[in-house]
Amino acid sequence: MRGADADASTGPSFLRACRRQPVACTPVWVMRQIGRYLPAYQAVRARMSLLDLCKTPDAAAEVTIRAVEILGVDAAIIFADILLVMEPLGVGLSFLQGEGPMIHRPVRTGEAVRRLPDVDPAESVPFVFEAVRLAREGLGGRVPLIGFAGAPFTLASYLVEGRPSRAFLETKHLMHADPDAWHTLMERLAVLSTRYLNGQIAAGADAVQLFDSWVGCLSPDDYRRFVLPHSRRVIASITPGVPVIHFGTGTAGLLELMQEAGGDVLGLDWRVDLGQAWGRLGDGVAVQGNLDPALLLASPAEIRRGVRAVLDGAAGRPGHIFNLGHGVLPHTPWDHVVAMVDAVHELSTGTGASGRFGSRA
Ligand code: CP3
Repeated sequence: MRGADADASTGPSFLRACRRQPVACTPVWVMRQIGRYLPAYQAVRARMSLLDLCKTPDAAAEVTIRAVEILGVDAAIIFADILLVMEPLGVGLSFLQGEGPMIHRPVRTGEAVRRLPDVDPAESVPFVFEAVRLAREGLGGRVPLIGFAGAPFTLASYLVEGRPSRAFLETKHLMHADPDAWHTLMERLAVLSTRYLNGQIAAGADAVQLFDSWVGCLSPDDYRRFVLPHSRRVIASITPGVPVIHFGTGTAGLLELMQEAGGDVLGLDWRVDLGQAWGRLGDGVAVQGNLDPALLLASPAEIRRGVRAVLDGAAGRPGHIFNLGHGVLPHTPWDHVVAMVDAVHELSTGTGASGRFGSRA
């Protein structure tokens, strides 16, 4: 008998893949899908700042939908930012052209942690939830909408460092020198992240991604002690039934621990072989990834070759969402992103629908 789960045509392919159900062709979306490389986004940003765009729900919803229309992707991601929840903490957030986000009053001591106010995103960032409502309405069910938040570690790294960092030495110092302050900070951020995600779900997000973008800087031992319990709490507190994508970069040494923290889908970056990484994790989890974003600067023929290699790694197993290993780079030609999306759809057609796993030539 063909139950609903065996029918690859029932329901959006992105949500089916999150749940490891077969699909007619591999769903694809990209991180920073609405980013600076798109002329339609540049035109909007010429009129308003990043923060103003995030705070203008109809404009944020519109760019969210435009990206889907231009690229032909299988999921939308709400236009917002993981750092929006920082502004109401009173730490001074700004996005400086060419330098990335800045926190003007970094949080580096137990005293500073205790001074952080308890804020409810429903009151402090209502515009994000309104943008989710409008985007969902505007999409009219064409593709699912992804909500997102920063994971506690990645949020903490911005709060403690105050500026983009490579080594995260201030963050590691707080962790090791004052573990009580560290855990208090992480508990506060876990609550904030959970409320932010569940608020987006209540407003209509169909799935959520937890961005732990910089967690790959940690040793497995530090991840286990200082991060895992907090990420686990966030993921365990997400509204039941809504798929969670747990994403990080540089995490080759942490994948099993991230899986332990939770998530229906684990994000992989390009430094790991997708097939090998999925083999380590087992069939109980879906995976997302993992083309090198730099490959989108190459020719469409090279892009197609790279897409085929990633799809070969997934080998038609149900539960693969195609994505880049991290966000689209600013100078990427937008038609190269379209070439990638088209190649994913074309080269994966029929791989999972028939249930002939591993049948790719
Ligand atoms: O993916 C999408 O299309 C949705 C929109 C989105 C933005 N930020 C808008 C944005 C998403 C998912 C984010 C998440 C985000 N923000 C993360 C996690 C993802 C990742 O990249 O690891 C992080 C670490 C941030 C913090 C942040 N915001 C940084 C580091 C920067 C500067 C990036 C740069 O390259 O300069 C931002 C600014 C930002 N947020 C931009 C966009 C489109 C840059 C473009 C602009 O200034 O208009």
